[in-house]
Amino acid sequence: MSEKIKVVICSGTACFVMGASDILLLEESLSPELRSRVEIEGATCLGMCRESERGKAPYVTINGELMSQATLPKVLARIQELVDA
Ligand code: FES
Repeated sequence: MSEKIKVVICSGTACFVMGASDILLLEESLSPELRSRVEIEGATCLGMCRESERGKAPYVTINGELMSQATLPKVLARIQELVDA
């Protein structure tokens, strides 16, 4: 897989107070090798926090796939899975 993995971290208010600030440390948490494979973007409210059936904040999307209640370890694990796939 040569395409970059695209990670969008919501840093709107609801996500930020629920822990998105930790997830924003993602870039520093990646090994240099992984860092070159991942594109990280911040976003203002993705609109998910208003739809309770979408799970709970904070939200991250990874290659368009929504992760609710995202944490830094969960995001790192998913990135690793995608890299290993
Ligand atoms: S603040 Fe993150 S989805 Fe609304």
